[in-house]
Amino acid sequence: MTARRILVTSALPYANGHIHLGHLVEYIQTDIWVRFQKLRGNRCIYICADDTHGTAIMIRARQEGRSEDAMIADMREAHLRDFSAFDVAFDNYGSTHSEYNRQVCHEVWTSLRAAGLVIEKNVTQLFDPKAKTFLADRFVKGTCPKCQAPDQYGDNCDKCGSTYSPADLINPVSTLSGATPELRSAKHLFVEIEKLHDWLTEWTQSGLHLQDEVANYLKGHFLGEPLRDWDVSRPAPYFGFEIPDSPGDYWYVWFDAPIGYIGSTAEWCAKNGEKLDDWWRPGTAPAEIHHFIGKDITYFHTLFWPAMLKTAGLNLPERVHIHGFLTVDGEKMSKTKGTFVQASTYLKHLDPSWLRYYYATKLGSRLDDLDLNLEEFATKVNSDLVGKVVNLASRTARFVEAVGLSSTYPDDGGLFREAAAQADSIAAAYEGCDFNGAMRQIMALADRANKYVDEQAPWTLRKDPARAADVQNACTVTLNLFRQIAVYLAPVLPRLATQASQLLQQPITRWEDSQTPLVGTSVTRFEHLMKRVELAQVQAMIEDGKQTAPETTAEAAAVPSTPWNDGPEQIAAEPLVAEHCTIDDFVKVDLRVARVVAANEVVGADKLLQLTLSLGGEGTRNVFAGIKSAYKPEDLVGRLVILCANLAPRKMKFGISEGMVLAAGAGGKEIFLLNPDSGAKPGHRVH
Ligand code: 2FM
Ligand code: ZN
Repeated sequence: MTARRILVTSALPYANGHIHLGHLVEYIQTDIWVRFQKLRGNRCIYICADDTHGTAIMIRARQEGRSEDAMIADMREAHLRDFSAFDVAFDNYGSTHSEYNRQVCHEVWTSLRAAGLVIEKNVTQLFDPKAKTFLADRFVKGTCPKCQAPDQYGDNCDKCGSTYSPADLINPVSTLSGATPELRSAKHLFVEIEKLHDWLTEWTQSGLHLQDEVANYLKGHFLGEPLRDWDVSRPAPYFGFEIPDSPGDYWYVWFDAPIGYIGSTAEWCAKNGEKLDDWWRPGTAPAEIHHFIGKDITYFHTLFWPAMLKTAGLNLPERVHIHGFLTVDGEKMSKTKGTFVQASTYLKHLDPSWLRYYYATKLGSRLDDLDLNLEEFATKVNSDLVGKVVNLASRTARFVEAVGLSSTYPDDGGLFREAAAQADSIAAAYEGCDFNGAMRQIMALADRANKYVDEQAPWTLRKDPARAADVQNACTVTLNLFRQIAVYLAPVLPRLATQASQLLQQPITRWEDSQTPLVGTSVTRFEHLMKRVELAQVQAMIEDGKQTAPETTAEAAAVPSTPWNDGPEQIAAEPLVAEHCTIDDFVKVDLRVARVVAANEVVGADKLLQLTLSLGGEGTRNVFAGIKSAYKPEDLVGRLVILCANLAPRKMKFGISEGMVLAAGAGGKEIFLLNPDSGAKPGHRVH
C-alpha cells in the first residue's frame, strides 16, 4: 500500500492574545492525529500560522504605542514557545502577514473576479471619528433599544436576548476611544457565494467531509435559504493586505486567514524543495487536506472556504474535523475563578504530558464540549499514567539493569500477542479521532500487564538467587508490555516514547514497533519517568490563573459576532448545538403547570393561537402556541398545560411570546396537552 500524503491544519491563532487551555484542546488534538499518521508511515505535514490581521490587532498596537509588526513578532515568539512546551510540533508555522500569503491571496482573488463572483455594495456602519476607523459590532456599546439595559454590545443584548443593528443602540459609545460614533457609508466588496449554493449543498451533504451533526446544522441554518453575499473588504485604516484592484480597501481578516493555510504551506515548500501544487492542486495523487477547528468557526470552513477553493481550482478538504469548547469544572472558563488559564501559567505548575493525556481521554469524534474536571484530571493522571503505565517500568527495570532482557521471549500466556493484535483497532480509533476509545483500549492492556507483574512479583522472586532466570523473564515480559503500550501512546505522549526508547535502547519510530518483542537487549539505568499530580499544584495553578488571565476584550474580539460580515446587515451567529442536552442544561429549564385563562385566534396566522396563561400566584403570561389545528380557542379556556416558563421572550410578528407550551403528538389533530384530570395546579413545578 502506498503511503498517504496528508496535509493537516489547526485554526490559526489570533496574534492578539496568548494561548490558553481552551486553544490547547485543538492543538493537542491535531498534534496527536498528526503524530499518529507519521508513526503509521504516512507522509504527513502539520501546517499552522499566526492570524495577524484585523482591527483588534491594529487597535491594540495603537494602544501599546508600537507597530503591528513589532506586536505580531512578539506574539509569534510567545505562541511558538507555548506550543513547543506542549510538544505541539508543526512542520511549518507561518504568518498571514507574509509575502507567501499575499501571493496566494492575489491568486484566489483573481479567480473570484474571473468567475464573476465579486460585486460592490455600499455599507453603512458606525464610524469612530476619534479613532478614525469603522467599528465592528463588538467595539460599540450602548443601551439596548428593546429593554433599555445599559452597557450592551452592538449586535445583541445580554439581558433580553434581542438582536439589532448597532445603529439602533441608544447612546452608543465606541469602546476604542469613548467617542460617540456616527453613521458613515463606504464601498465594500462582496463575494456572491449564492452562485455556489447547489455545489455547497452537494459538498456539505455528501456524508464524506463533515460530521453528520455539522452537515445537519448547515442544512438547517444556512442552506435552506439563499446564501447572503459575503463582505470580504474593509476600508482603510485596516491592518491587512490592500486589495490590488481596489486601492484603499483591504481584505477582511477572514478572507486571508484560511488562505494562510496555503501561504504557510508555500513557505514550507520553499524551505524543503517541495512544490506547492503537489499539496494544494488536485492531481493524479492528490494530497488529503484535513482541517481541525472549533465549532464557533464552522461556517467559515464549511461554506466560505470551500467556495473559495472550488473557485480557485484548489484542493478541497478531505475532512473538516470540528470539536467542542472547553469548560472547566463544568463551567465556562472564567477569569475571576482563575479557570481562564494561559498555557504559560499551566507550565509553571504542571507537566504538559498530563494535559495531553487528559485531553486525549476526553476527546471523541463528536462536537460535545470537553470538560476539564480538575479532580478527575489528577485522578486520571495518577491512576492511569503513573499507577498503570509508568509503574510497569519502575517496578521491573532495575532488576534487569545488569543482565538485560532474556535472549528468547518467555511464555507470557499470549499477553504480548493479544495486545499486538489490537493494533488495528487502536489505530482505527485514532484515525477516527476517537482518542477516548483508543485510551480505553490501551488502559485495558495496561491492566492486564499489571495483573501479570503482580502475579509474578519479581520483587519477591529476586530474594531467591536460584530464581534469577524467572526474575529476568518476568521483567522481560513486563518491560515489553510497557514498551508496546508506549508505542500505542506515542502520539499522545511523545516524551514517554522517548524515555521508553532510552530505557530499552531501541528507538520507537513506527507503529509496527508494537508487533515484535525485544529480546537480548540491554536496559539502561532507570530514571524517574513521571511524577504524580498533587491537588495542591492544581490549586496553585488556579490561584495563579486569577492573576494572569487574558484580558476579556481580546477574547471577545476573537469570535466574530456573525459569519457574514461585521457590519449592520447581519444575522445572529447561532451556536452549533450538539445533539445531547446535559443534565446541567436540562435543570435550567423551568417547566410549570399553567391554566389557560383566555385563548384567541391570531389574525393572519394559520397555526397559532394566542393564549393567556395563569401561573397561579405568579401572574399571567402571553404565549403564542402552534396548536390551532387541534383546538378551538373556546375549548382551551380552563384547561391546564405545561409551560416552559423561563424561555427568553421572543418577538414574533404578532407580539411577544413569553414562554412555550409543551405538547405531544404527531401534529395536525393530534396535539395533546396535559390530562385535565391530572390533579396538577397552576404554578406547580414539573419534575
Ligand atoms: O477563530 C480564530 O481564532 C481565528 N484566528 C481562526 C482562523 S482559522 C483560519 F481560517 F485561518
Ligand atoms: Zn435588551
